[in-house]
Amino acid sequence: MALTGRDLISIFDLSDPEIEAIFDLADEMATASRRRLRACDGALMVTLFYEPSTRTRLSFEAAMQRLGGGVLSCADARTTSAAKGETIADTVRVVESYADIIVIRSPLEGAARVAADYAKIPVVNAGDGAHEHPTQTLLDLYTIRKEKGRLRDVKVALVGDLKHARTAHSLAYGLARFGAHISCVAPHGLELPSRVLDRLRTHFGCEPALYRSLDDLVTDPNTLPTSKDRQRLLTSEVMSLFEVIYVTRIQKERFVSPEEFEAAKSSYVITANLLRKARPEALIMHPLPRVDELEYDIDADPRAAYFRQAAYGVPVRMALVAALLGRMPVRIGRAKKGTYKPRLWEEIDLSRLGDVRCENPRCVTAAEAYVAPRFHLVAGRPNAVSCVFCGHERDLPGDMA
Ligand code: NCD
Repeated sequence: MALTGRDLISIFDLSDPEIEAIFDLADEMATASRRRLRACDGALMVTLFYEPSTRTRLSFEAAMQRLGGGVLSCADARTTSAAKGETIADTVRVVESYADIIVIRSPLEGAARVAADYAKIPVVNAGDGAHEHPTQTLLDLYTIRKEKGRLRDVKVALVGDLKHARTAHSLAYGLARFGAHISCVAPHGLELPSRVLDRLRTHFGCEPALYRSLDDLVTDPNTLPTSKDRQRLLTSEVMSLFEVIYVTRIQKERFVSPEEFEAAKSSYVITANLLRKARPEALIMHPLPRVDELEYDIDADPRAAYFRQAAYGVPVRMALVAALLGRMPVRIGRAKKGTYKPRLWEEIDLSRLGDVRCENPRCVTAAEAYVAPRFHLVAGRPNAVSCVFCGHERDLPGDMA
């Protein structure tokens, strides 16, 4: 299936060969001729950003302008009709007649899915609450592939607020698909949600190793990412296990109580001292912005990859936009056996059961009353359903199942 005219709402929307084709196109973007760089001449992108952003919005806009296209930018919800109560559905049905592609960021989980349901032009999710951030994952995977030469078997630690960091959720799915070994290092209460772990397990057979701290001694062989490590590394510190250490900010804006945030903040700080324990060829990555997780005195270390990572955002988003607009040929290879192919997840009709709603208060269905709840079946749990918009799961009451 070609990429032309498609939406990108979740990293699950793309197959492995499609992701690889976008990476090949991103490689070409760096060396592209002027003519190719005019690929989006005359096209317009609208960016609807209802949450703060520096890198994502500006790199999308830089990408479109470098392709010769133009940009209509809403960088602040307070300056749009959303502040007057306009719904997502109405906003996108208006702006689709002004532009050719919509890039949307919202604090509501599932907002981009609603936008895509109502817009006839491609919609790209630039972050929906604590749910997903698929284009960040594209540039994160691209960075690892570029700097490590591969994704398969790379040992990656996801560190920090793995409960709320949407970048960590999408990246975990992306890494699992390409055969990386995932470890999670999170403080108590901020672990990767169980629904994300379940999906890693059921879709990709991936079982992340779980740690609390980066400078603990490894004493339990069962927590080592691979069986080879089990033989070699039992007396090493956690930090030395990884080829990629992907640090995330503690997501202050997503905490329900300030006390909870206070308890979690500054949980992990990569200091020059800690970096001494990392492998000489390790990469320190971070989607940015940083608060205090990365000390400034590690910035000059060649292993600090986060500014290079942010820079890759432009060629990757150029490739994605040109592909979705059908403005450049995309060579999509054949899927290798066993790799992930997007498929329609089985949706279940619960209308006969009356009013079954998603229980996540930050789900778009809680905020936009016209959006009818929709659910998928959850693999392996006959009594549970997951919200099509935000991915939160709920059990059906006994008499409903
Ligand atoms: C991230 C985001 O917005 O989720 N930033 C980004 O897009 N590069 C990470 C964050 O805000 O912590």
